[in-house]
Amino acid sequence: LGRNIVFYQTLDSTQKIAHQLAQESAPEGTLVIAEEQKTGRGRMSRQWYSPPGTGIWMSLLLRPELPPQKAPQFTLITSVAIVQAIEEVCGLQVQIKWPNDLLIDGKKITGILTELQADSERIYSLIIGMGMNVNQKQADFPEELHEIATSLALAKGEPVSRAKLVQRVLFHIERYYKMYMDKGFEPIKLLWESYAVTIGKHITARTLHDSISGVALGITDEGVLLLEDKDGVVHPIYSADIEWL
Ligand code: BTN
Repeated sequence: LGRNIVFYQTLDSTQKIAHQLAQESAPEGTLVIAEEQKTGRGRMSRQWYSPPGTGIWMSLLLRPELPPQKAPQFTLITSVAIVQAIEEVCGLQVQIKWPNDLLIDGKKITGILTELQADSERIYSLIIGMGMNVNQKQADFPEELHEIATSLALAKGEPVSRAKLVQRVLFHIERYYKMYMDKGFEPIKLLWESYAVTIGKHITARTLHDSISGVALGITDEGVLLLEDKDGVVHPIYSADIEWL
């Protein structure tokens, strides 16, 4: 992965360019990376703050020959890969908050956005967007993010090499992608659960229309979160924001 790298000093969103390249038959493993994004996108149409010079803003194109229901598993594969890359390069422990947040001391260090070009039968392209806060200082974050976001440099107390991190992230995604294709999702699911903060906790899952509280039991093979409410009913949660006390 990452043998074909497309680098931009500044662009609107690496996701957008990766979608375009996917349609122009770019090969699997193509990586779009930018120093700055003007309109970085997060989940649920949120903005993703992507200033120049401090973070890693990149999108990786994969073409797994799989049905579209398998796509959420790639968010989990990527999470585990990034957790290990951060441990290796920075020596920092990272926790995963379902579905796609990586946290240090409860603050967001990385977000993952997995998008698809697919029909009902198969995936044509899978675009994994990764936003990693690396060398921001506290004052670099806008006021509204102070309580919820942090950077690797802040957690470690010294600057971190972005080049080294990108290299190790790709290395581990490639490794887990191969493991997944050879052995299926189970080994990755177990690893993911070992890093996840949400599992076993009493949480509230908020979707656009609804909110359900209960104990997070674990995830399914499709990466769906299972939540048991006080009456013992188990709810599958496909997409939500998670809160806990
Ligand atoms: C989230 O936590 O909501 C996901 C954030 C994903 C941000 C990354 S940065 C690189 C790529 N390009 C985008 O516009 N978004 C993703």
